[in-house]
Amino acid sequence: MPVPGDKSISHRYALLGALASGVTSVSHLAPGADVASTMACLRRLGAAIEVTSPGAVVIRGRGRDGLTAPAGALDAGNSGTTMRLLAGVLAACPFRTELTGDASLSRRPMRRVIDPLTAMGARITSTEGHAPLVIDGGNLSPITWQNPVASAQVKSAILFAGLAAEGTTSVIEPLPTRDHTERAFPTFGLRAMTAPEARSVSVTGIQHAVAPAGLLRVPGDPSTAAVWAAAAAALPGSVVELTGMCLNPHRLGFVRALERMGARIDITVEADVAGELVGTIRVAHGSHETTVIDPADVPGLIDELPVLAARAALGGGLAVSGAGELRVKESDRISALVAGLRALGVAADERPDGFVIDGSRRPTGGVADAAADHRLVMAFTLVALGAASASTVTGADAVAVSYPDFARELGRLTE
Ligand code: S3P
Repeated sequence: MPVPGDKSISHRYALLGALASGVTSVSHLAPGADVASTMACLRRLGAAIEVTSPGAVVIRGRGRDGLTAPAGALDAGNSGTTMRLLAGVLAACPFRTELTGDASLSRRPMRRVIDPLTAMGARITSTEGHAPLVIDGGNLSPITWQNPVASAQVKSAILFAGLAAEGTTSVIEPLPTRDHTERAFPTFGLRAMTAPEARSVSVTGIQHAVAPAGLLRVPGDPSTAAVWAAAAAALPGSVVELTGMCLNPHRLGFVRALERMGARIDITVEADVAGELVGTIRVAHGSHETTVIDPADVPGLIDELPVLAARAALGGGLAVSGAGELRVKESDRISALVAGLRALGVAADERPDGFVIDGSRRPTGGVADAAADHRLVMAFTLVALGAASASTVTGADAVAVSYPDFARELGRLTE
């Protein structure tokens, strides 16, 4: 089965298309509200973005220097990627912009982008490190930034700003994170230098993006696919084949974790599309094993931890540490995950930087609150599929942030 286009890559193609001179055509964009927020903000900055069919857009960029001051604030909605990556772009724009978000996004930490962008010369005010952010951009100086958090959003914000700073800007990461920005740059005529052994990536400014010739197709989103992969892994007799998938190694930590929990998984690489590996992931149910996720594994599966927890709740077990970042996602994904799992009759315990799941007894089912968090909607639904009695997930509308067709696809798969 195909899954929607990757959310992380979609944000980056939209941003780069708006920054590029020329016309960028993209298909199979992530369908949810988050990427729509990025495109709405970019339109307000003067980029012309036309939706030509579902998931397909034509972006007429005017170059970075062609972006114009918006009238009123830009709303990033629920999307951390929108706010943090746009902050990097706006740091270089010689006008004032206000970036706002919904209640969840307004609780999330923004100092992690404010500090490096301020060090580069942007002036940014916030409410004690939280949105709304008011950014006065302009001339930037290059920096070398030792990132204290393993965050691709922060790395990307600095790289976007670095394109507009004369000289070399470098980011050094505590652990490797998804590298979609670096991989997308050459497609838009930009150069980034990566030194994986030093966990560093650099850009030398000043560089201007150019629209790629031909159509860019966004590969399938591993974070969305993970729910079907985890379902097949957990439910005896199941097999699922996920096609057209993004196979970027930084996104496949969940595959290795599911294998350790007993799933049988085959990956076939079929193509390299704009710097990203694309192919098929086939997952079949296997034995129920207990596994451990260590701090070094976390950046490679951070968004998949809720569905991995759900998989473990249906047999086997899981212990996660070094995942304190989960507390500053769309919800406090440690507290809300453990509370929801317990409400479904799962033996789950919270840790300051992770959780422990004992899946040796079948969940009873119950009523779980997804805390307005799309990833928790999918995780709790998976537990419900394997529970002894019918369950209800409240706050399930939030799934539209990344997967508006989730319920329909679920109905199709469980027919
Ligand atoms: C993302 C990076 C990760 C991830 C988020 C998307 C990106 O966040 O959790 O869903 O597209 O760069 P952090 O950068 O906060 O780790």
